[in-house]
Amino acid sequence: MARRRQLYEGKAKILFEGPEPGTLVQYFKDDATAGNGAKKGVITGKGVLNNRISEHLMMRLGEIGVPTHFVRRLNMREQLIREVEIIPLEIVVRNVAAGSLSKRLGIPEGTRLPRSIIEYYYKNDGLGDPMVAEEHITAFGWASTVDLDDMVALTLRINDFLSGLFLGIGITLVDFKLEFGRLWENEDMRLVLADEISPDNCRLWDAKTSEKLDKDRFRRDMGRVEEAYQEVARRLGILPEA
Ligand code: C5P
Repeated sequence: MARRRQLYEGKAKILFEGPEPGTLVQYFKDDATAGNGAKKGVITGKGVLNNRISEHLMMRLGEIGVPTHFVRRLNMREQLIREVEIIPLEIVVRNVAAGSLSKRLGIPEGTRLPRSIIEYYYKNDGLGDPMVAEEHITAFGWASTVDLDDMVALTLRINDFLSGLFLGIGITLVDFKLEFGRLWENEDMRLVLADEISPDNCRLWDAKTSEKLDKDRFRRDMGRVEEAYQEVARRLGILPEA
């Protein structure tokens, strides 16, 4: 790997300066955390798999006209992305009750929701990513009403498309988390999908058996974590380079 200036290290990824202005290199680590860093571990090979899975899903989304930060995959653990100004929100979409929704509202895991639910969380590790309402987002200037409307429209489109894509390979898309960024081109600003889409930030259940094929296997000490990520990659028809 060529020596590049490191700009930011997160829990699962590192961002390096890119080869051209306006680009970054996103490096996928094997490190895994849960509970806002309370639980730490390594899932061997996860970075390689997430790089491939996220590449595949971002490219498919690009094909239907969803703008993303993804440019191209560089190697097994790195991809070239457009540099964006990250909006400090985590947008969670839920199709089936699970995780924090089940815990908070007492709705049993696996209950199909009457309609998809979107939740917003303020992206702030120090505060533990608290849930916020639209009012907080606009009042504190994290995003304008127009930007929020655009993000919701894109999020619903992404949810419909990915739900169908996963169902086609026998997987239920239970819920997932998205992040968006602002891309400036001269005076114009476009919102683009950023970060990654992988079993680290999606709940993916086998459609027949409800077997978990995502990071909950790590969060809940269920074992066979890497195998689950591999199974998702296998069903998507992509496998890591030898
Ligand atoms: O924990 P919770 O049920 O709120 O998670 C909902 C979805 O958002 C899950 O798919 C989880 O993987 C994802 N998520 C995430 N990063 C967070 C919190 C949740 O990717 N910080």
